[in-house]
Amino acid sequence: MSDHLHVIESAGSYALGPWHVRRVGYGAMQLAGDNVFGPPRDRDEALRVLRAAVDSGVNHIDTAQYYGPSVVNELIREALRPYPADLAIVSKVAARRDAAGAVLPFDEPHQLRQGIEENLTTLGISHLAAVNLRMMDQSTPGKRFDSQLAALIQAREEGLVDGIGLSNISKRHLLRALEQTEVACVQNLFNLADQSSLDVLQECTNRGIAFVPFCPLGWPQGVQNHILTSPALAALGNRLQATPAQIALAWLLDLAPNILLIPGTRTRAHLAENLDAAGVQLDEASKAELARHFPATR
Ligand SMILES: NC(=O)c1ccc[n+]([C@@H]2O[C@H](COP(=O)([O-])OP(=O)(O)OC[C@H]3O[C@@H](n4cnc5c(N)ncnc54)[C@H](OP(=O)(O)O)[C@@H]3O)[C@@H](O)[C@H]2O)c1
Repeated sequence: MSDHLHVIESAGSYALGPWHVRRVGYGAMQLAGDNVFGPPRDRDEALRVLRAAVDSGVNHIDTAQYYGPSVVNELIREALRPYPADLAIVSKVAARRDAAGAVLPFDEPHQLRQGIEENLTTLGISHLAAVNLRMMDQSTPGKRFDSQLAALIQAREEGLVDGIGLSNISKRHLLRALEQTEVACVQNLFNLADQSSLDVLQECTNRGIAFVPFCPLGWPQGVQNHILTSPALAALGNRLQATPAQIALAWLLDLAPNILLIPGTRTRAHLAENLDAAGVQLDEASKAELARHFPATR
């Protein structure tokens, strides 16, 4: 796996608040059981995936206390402690799971604080590189949003988190947050097939804020996945000797320098494939073809 280091280094690195991370990272959500609930199907492989990612040079891992819940954080702790000094672990707060697996809001200011503390406990760390406030609805940002942000600012002042991130947000959220605090990162749904957060990406790019697209491969998979099953990507892959997943990731890396990848997988084979996406060069003709098949939506 260490063979991947020079490939992912070729994609460069970017600031994530006070941290600096390689642009090819890893999203750990898929390591929990089906529907991100309960224990993994293959626990040993889950631990091996995490170790392989870090051995390959990944120094940015995305997680959440509510993945499992607790399951993914505890796997990260078991696989990677003692943590490398340069490993940025980024989590998110504002949701919880009930006993049946339903995802519920947990986003009152005191619950956000509790969410941060639970992350620290299950990960076995004293502070997170960043914590994302994961908006649970699309309501207009107002006083409630401000009080949620204030809880995160307080946690940062106390040294529990190094940076504050925002997830599932509109540009209005970002601009309102920036009136109150620095923002380390934004994590929104964004991939070839869904570019509706383009305005948020552009705002982040202009301001030098890391933009972390979640579901970069269009999870969930299946007939509705327009990326991995795309004939256009398969044809382009044949020409470039790359897989559809690699093209989807290479497109993101090429799109803007502040994009940090966190593709998710529960297998080492897919991990290796995704890391090698950093070595796929898209020429102008390929980019034009992708733009034709996957037009930006605003
Ligand atoms: N902020 C938020 O609200 C939010 C929401 C969702 C996700 N996230 C974060 O974003 C990360 C990435 O998103 P995601 O994991 O949901 O979705 P994703 O990266 O778009 O796709 C993951 C899916 O793609 C499959 N896959 C991975 N590599 C592949 C490859 N090379 N070829 C074919 N299939 C491949 C995986 O299956 P295998 O396991 O079989 O490889 C898995 O089913 C998550 O892990 C999580 O950390 C955040």
